Amino acid sequence: MGCHAEISPEMVPANFRCGQCGELLDIIYPPQDKLPAELRAAWLSRRVSRSSIDESGVWRFREALPILADLQNVVTLQEGNTPLYAMPRCAKFGGVNLLWGKHQGMNPTGSFKDAGMTAAISVAKERGASWVACASTGNTSAAMAAYAARAGMRALVLIPEGKIAWGKLAQTLDYGALTLQLRTDFDGCVKVLALLMGLAPIYLLNSVNPYRLEGQKTPAFEIAEQMDWQAPDHLIVPGGNLANSSALGMGFAQMLEWGLIEKLPRISVIQAEGANPLFASWRDHDGKELSPVAANTRATAIRIGNPASWKKAVRVLRATGGHVEQVSEAEIALAKAEIGAEGIGCEPASAVTLAGLRKLARQGKVQPEEKIVLLLTGHVLKDPEYTLDFHQQKLLTETEKASLIAEDKTEVRRLARAPQVVDATADAVMRALEAKAQEAPQ
Ligand code: F0G
Repeated sequence: MGCHAEISPEMVPANFRCGQCGELLDIIYPPQDKLPAELRAAWLSRRVSRSSIDESGVWRFREALPILADLQNVVTLQEGNTPLYAMPRCAKFGGVNLLWGKHQGMNPTGSFKDAGMTAAISVAKERGASWVACASTGNTSAAMAAYAARAGMRALVLIPEGKIAWGKLAQTLDYGALTLQLRTDFDGCVKVLALLMGLAPIYLLNSVNPYRLEGQKTPAFEIAEQMDWQAPDHLIVPGGNLANSSALGMGFAQMLEWGLIEKLPRISVIQAEGANPLFASWRDHDGKELSPVAANTRATAIRIGNPASWKKAVRVLRATGGHVEQVSEAEIALAKAEIGAEGIGCEPASAVTLAGLRKLARQGKVQPEEKIVLLLTGHVLKDPEYTLDFHQQKLLTETEKASLIAEDKTEVRRLARAPQVVDATADAVMRALEAKAQEAPQ
């Protein structure tokens, strides 16, 4: 918990920070008087209800997030209830026996942000906000723009110019947000937004908003439910601004406290090598201090050098015995292609989880018999340019490729499937088919 946890609406300051210590606030929830069995039954029964709040995979767990005075204010796009896919192929690649992917990319706007956004936009609506705003690497802004449009609010989006995936930019435009591409990076966008807070009547929807985390903790409830109320041994999440790892940690802690699960999963965070401030903090300062870095990675969603929620993430890592690892650009690209080859697919930032798992397994920090869940945060169609570049072997530089071990270099070549242009004849297609049939299946 933060220094001062608040739930009373009028006491929550606009910057969501404690007036005394300056730390980010957490929401506190009242004790639960229902029995675990009653809660489980109520949550499950809502899956067959036709009421819109029951159809939401966030609001069907509403006892766990009592953040609205009136449920009429819920703004929902039927988010959540996402699949937990078994990933036998990726398990082998990662060096473990049992692996699942919780695919948060299967949300209405294609990322895990929807679960948090339904919660925070509903609060914004209840408080009478007319403008909402965020700085984003692309997914938060897509989600905010969509939910603001549904709520009849206006949306201001600040994104780094040239450093977000096209799919995400296209979404914010389509959902009607005022989209400003600032000539800076994500961390620069956050600074401008902070300055704006005192000047414009906007409601802040970055993940420093604790109501976002309330929504983002619900995938933890879904995972537990999908695993018959057994927490997995290990949950692996990508780390950017570090709100998601915090939210999921809060979710599992709440379930443990309420007697819904018997143990916490270990929660590990994986960062890209070029955007690794938490990894460096954990390695060099035991997570006690964090030095911002100038971030650079093709996984643009997590191109973040000064993560706002790092202290919350460190608390979760400590409470669950989690690890922090970093992975290279080539490792991310290979892991993403493996997830694609499993028929699942995800955006680059999500693939750090599989690359990280493999590294942890090789270091002996993950045992083959552990039940492991990867949090796949974004849909494969968010960043088609990255995927096309990979398959046309234009993504990685020679130096990046050289960093891979021989076996992985071969795997990268084997997985790359550039589209072929052939004549419009059955003969030409047959030739391509026969050539492919000679190769071993992927
Ligand atoms: N994966 C994806 C696809 C993301 O979009 C993000 C963050 C993360 C992982 C990291 O999550 O920040 O909670 O540690 N995207 C934010 C955005 C920053 O603006 O869309 P985190």
